[in-house]
Amino acid sequence: MKEKKLPEGLHRDTLAVRTGLPASQWGENSEALYLTSGFVQPDAATSAERFASGEGYTYARTSNPTVTSFEKRLAALEGTEAAIGAASGMGAILMMIMGLLKAGDHVICSRSMFGSTLNLFGKEFAKFGVETSFVSQTDAAEWEAALRPTTKLLFAETPTNPLTDVCDIRALADLAHGAGALLAVDNCFCSPALQRPTELGADLIIHSGTKYLDGHGRVMAGAICGPSKLIVDVFGPVVRTAGMALAPFNAWVVLKGLETLGIRMQAQSANALAIARWLEAQPTVKRVYYPGLASHPQHELAMRQQSGNGGAVLSFDVHGDDPDTARANAFHVINSTRVVSIATNLGDTKTIITHPGSTSHGRLTETQRQAAGIGQGLIRLAVGLDHFDDITADLQRGLGTLA
Ligand SMILES: Cc1ncc(COP(=O)(O)O)c(C=O)c1O
Repeated sequence: MKEKKLPEGLHRDTLAVRTGLPASQWGENSEALYLTSGFVQPDAATSAERFASGEGYTYARTSNPTVTSFEKRLAALEGTEAAIGAASGMGAILMMIMGLLKAGDHVICSRSMFGSTLNLFGKEFAKFGVETSFVSQTDAAEWEAALRPTTKLLFAETPTNPLTDVCDIRALADLAHGAGALLAVDNCFCSPALQRPTELGADLIIHSGTKYLDGHGRVMAGAICGPSKLIVDVFGPVVRTAGMALAPFNAWVVLKGLETLGIRMQAQSANALAIARWLEAQPTVKRVYYPGLASHPQHELAMRQQSGNGGAVLSFDVHGDDPDTARANAFHVINSTRVVSIATNLGDTKTIITHPGSTSHGRLTETQRQAAGIGQGLIRLAVGLDHFDDITADLQRGLGTLA
């Protein structure tokens, strides 16, 4: 069959359903799933040549055509030269650090990052001599003050999990580049449908594909997007050696998830904005955290650097005079739900309710949790496609019966 080359300049919606490797000789319209760990070589010389150059397919720890299709599609959506898959979002961060840093290097990271990211930098990388300074998510002056001659990387997540704090990507990129460092942005909360960090100067983008890229809560996946000289030459050899490769089946699931990313993000964000506004009007809710609300401290910045309403994750504090009462109240609201799922994931079509203080951020010390602003009365809602009326009725069961 004659291969048709896609024309230049296609819209992102089209790229989301079309980008990938060409179809096989059978001409399948839906991308093939290549469930194979090894690839038969035509002869020993070709095999030797492919092992030496890393080109062509040899072994799935190095690459697999289904994984390549996912990488190409994600890069097209993020607008980067290339992307590389990883077994999970945390695997992608591990790959980035193994590829970029050595003992003695320094990283600056927001202290409001996802709990496992804080642990990875604060505990695990510290064991190997990579030092991290944790600074304010929103105060660029703190990032600047933390710069050292050994600083190689600034790493931000925006909006943050779970408080949805937004940092200024352009300002941090300028700071990093002025110091000869790179800026990496975890784009998990917005996905390329709502925010493209490289257009604002970021060098690398981290993804937990487990979240919106899959979109249906099915598989673990991760990725780094960026320039070919880093993705192919630096991170490719790391994944080949260290083995945090994305499984072909998971790549196929996420590849198909990307096809509906744009419409899912729009619908889930619209739902989230409506719920955030409803929560703000509830007497037993102390505060709502959602970038789409005018009350959010970085509302204007968020509306400038993201599209959509502010994403599909929001958090809120319930009343409680002391941490024990606040926790009991949060548990009451969570336990009173009958529709939304009590789980720790986000990015699913099913709305998920979480108590960050005892789950995603439960392994942090109380001091770290307080520094990150995560109180015991905090509840995170990852809004899915459940109807607004059903979600609010579900929340009202608990909110309306709080003392
Ligand atoms: C912002 C953010 N980054 C990274 C991760 C880690 O991703 P994964 O669970 O796929 O390892 C998560 C997981 O919740 C997250 O919320």
